[in-house]
Amino acid sequence: MRQIEVGPDGGVDSMRIVDAPRPKPGPGEILIEVHYAGVNGPDLAQRQGRYPPPPGASPVLGLEAAGRVAEVGDGVSEWNVGDRVTALVPGGGYADYCVTSARHALPIPEGLTLAQAAGLPETWFTVWANLIDRAHLKSGERVLIHGGSSGIGLAAIGLARLVGAHPFVTVGSPQRAQFCRDFGAELAIDYRQEDFVARVKQATDKDGVDVVLDMVGGAYLQKDISILKRDGRLVLIAFLQGSKVEFDFMPVMIKRLTITGSTMRPRSADEKACIRDALWREVWPALASGRVRTHLFGVYPLEKAGEAHRIMEASQHIGKLVLQLRD
Ligand SMILES: NC(=O)c1ccc[n+]([C@@H]2O[C@H](COP(=O)([O-])OP(=O)(O)OC[C@H]3O[C@@H](n4cnc5c(N)ncnc54)[C@H](OP(=O)(O)O)[C@@H]3O)[C@@H](O)[C@H]2O)c1
Repeated sequence: MRQIEVGPDGGVDSMRIVDAPRPKPGPGEILIEVHYAGVNGPDLAQRQGRYPPPPGASPVLGLEAAGRVAEVGDGVSEWNVGDRVTALVPGGGYADYCVTSARHALPIPEGLTLAQAAGLPETWFTVWANLIDRAHLKSGERVLIHGGSSGIGLAAIGLARLVGAHPFVTVGSPQRAQFCRDFGAELAIDYRQEDFVARVKQATDKDGVDVVLDMVGGAYLQKDISILKRDGRLVLIAFLQGSKVEFDFMPVMIKRLTITGSTMRPRSADEKACIRDALWREVWPALASGRVRTHLFGVYPLEKAGEAHRIMEASQHIGKLVLQLRD
């Protein structure tokens, strides 16, 4: 089968297609014939050597894939050969076939294409785990989402709306701000034009927000803290501007704040299965009914994986990019 290999320098142009043996599903696993594989921020970090795969995971890029079940391992009863699925995979999505736990796969939501469905798992598992399980976002609360037009950001807008919360976002251009407003954001702040702290305070009558979902870190951290309300929660999922800062923790004590965060990939199979079950129950019907939407920016053949990475690195996209391996 074909799979993507990254050269020693980790550059975009070092990605190339190589032949490799088709993997075998172990007990409790399924082999997916990959039609589409999602591209995610962590893939860029892994390519550059900044996000090594956890022990036992495939070293091949790709954290989500959609296609048909090609084989089932011992003990798998919930999927049959031929079923159309989309799945969170521990690695190896950028390949013709990849293996994952049967408990990390989901059906294709009614009305969505395989390409759209391929871009769901990594972002939705992540936003559910962070906004619901860690930050306990509730109806009526306000959440500020940095990187609002990213794959993660759009899923977070959708999830906030689904639970009845009020999503605010920051983005890097007026076009992205407009897109996010159309997508359901109540307030979209172009951080290149406006100070998001002042804008949030103005929009909330100085009250602030209950939750901040932050992928930026760096100088944002103290600012996030400054706009959190009493009992607010800051959730950290990436540090695009760095993870080391000088920080005044006084507001954490005074306002009884919670600072938390998580990464999806190293979580246990059981934890991921619990998140899968919650998404299947709570989000998949909403995707099928159109109450929650997804946005596919582009579909790229496997040979153009480098182009997809280049677009994501330059932040020229809105929403999701996926690679196509077959029709
Ligand atoms: N912890 C986890 O489990 C987990 C799981 C998945 C993804 N992630 C992380 O979440 C982030 C989003 O992932 P994704 O797949 O959705 O990628 P993506 O679509 O490429 O999103 C990156 C976003 O970051 C914004 N951004 C980039 N540099 C910025 C800066 N200096 N200041 C403010 N905003 C900046 C970009 O928007 P603008 O250009 O508009 O600023 C873009 O929307 C990535 O960093 C990824 O590593 C974490």
